[in-house]
Amino acid sequence: MKSIDVVLGLQWGDEGKGKIVDVLAGRYPAVARFQGGPNAGHSLHFDGKKFVVRSIPSGIFREGSVNIIGSGVVLDPITFREECANIESMGIKPCERIHISKKAHLILPTHRLLDAAMEAAAGKGKIGSTLKGIGPTYTDKISRHGLRVGDILAPDFRERFLKLKSRHLQQLSDLNYECDADAEEAKWMDAVEFLKGFDLIDCEYYVDEWLREKPILAEGAQGSLLDVDFGSYPFVTSSSTTVGGVCTGLGVAPSRIGRVFGIFKAYCTRVGSGPFPTELFDETGEKIRRIGQEFGAVTGRPRRCGWLDLVALKYTVMIDGVTDLIMMKSDCLDSFGTIKVCTSYKVNGVETDKFPFDTAAEIEPVYTEFKGWNRDLTGVRREEDLPQEFREYLKFIEDYIGVPVKIISLGPDREATIER
Ligand code: IMO
Ligand code: MG
Repeated sequence: MKSIDVVLGLQWGDEGKGKIVDVLAGRYPAVARFQGGPNAGHSLHFDGKKFVVRSIPSGIFREGSVNIIGSGVVLDPITFREECANIESMGIKPCERIHISKKAHLILPTHRLLDAAMEAAAGKGKIGSTLKGIGPTYTDKISRHGLRVGDILAPDFRERFLKLKSRHLQQLSDLNYECDADAEEAKWMDAVEFLKGFDLIDCEYYVDEWLREKPILAEGAQGSLLDVDFGSYPFVTSSSTTVGGVCTGLGVAPSRIGRVFGIFKAYCTRVGSGPFPTELFDETGEKIRRIGQEFGAVTGRPRRCGWLDLVALKYTVMIDGVTDLIMMKSDCLDSFGTIKVCTSYKVNGVETDKFPFDTAAEIEPVYTEFKGWNRDLTGVRREEDLPQEFREYLKFIEDYIGVPVKIISLGPDREATIER
């Protein structure tokens, strides 16, 4: 038996998972998404162009690749169809490369409306959701009202759709949300027909058979600090973004999991609301945003920026059992005279190196400072050519976390990557 290796974001999402999956995909004939949905926006850069995928695994651009949309994913037929159209325009036939679990749940147009309605009703307490209908779809899954991809083949699919829709209409009316609930329905039904052209699989059997011969790379979406159980609840997404989500989302045993690649940026970002202990509200934060081009791939929203938080990183490395760290975007810190990393928190005045239960508490980050390397690293391709200051910074992170950094990414392109 071969194993499933996993790529996970260790922060609040947007760590650069798309690029790394694309780099690693050459070594894995199959890539599988196991959770999340079109709230993800994974960017890939090659041949001088940028591509963004949302529900489709980032292995799609590799010749001969198999791309699995697993049972733990929530799929919006409309966005999926749009994504497929983009990919098709590049001469790739999506239906030859994508296999979809019958157990993945469907995002209905009314799920998206409910997402917007609930956010509007939450006022200041809003999550800052991507408004793709993720939360309401997982809510229906857990409360056992959801519709699954395999259901589209059932003769009574339309009745079941209407039953769920009328439930949503009641909820929308309870929230006093005015909208046209029918606007997207015909388009959605068309997109459901389009889904029928794909290989709809029994994911757990498919994966089991595949692993007898060949490995799989599981591609996480969002980040571990957005995990519904272990993230900064309630400011999280509605799925298991941590390593356990691979088992429940694909239907595989923990013993099948091999390496866990944990991705982090050399600084932190967050979109949407919620605690962010190292957030910067000053020019330094602005500078990180500008140089790192920290604007959402899905929503275009400016991302909140701050220094690297090693307390939070060590916490997610622990939960995920990370075996290999991957550091992204350190080139974005090239022009900083001083670089800080947070090594402990003062929570209500008491110092700790543990991520607290109450993330809404008064958290003051305690920093260790490093001298910047003040050199353009984007062209560096060999470890020997990295400046001394950079190596010291890297060594400190590895020693603090206790896991080696195996890949350093120094730019968005596939080629701007050093493996150690
Ligand atoms: P990738 O895969 C960054 C955030 C949203 C919001 C919260 C809940 O590109 O890293 P949701 O729509 O999931 O109910 O929103 O989670 N969020 C992300 N932030 N990257 C993502 O995905 C995200 N997906 C969701 O901004 O705060
Ligand atoms: Mg993103």
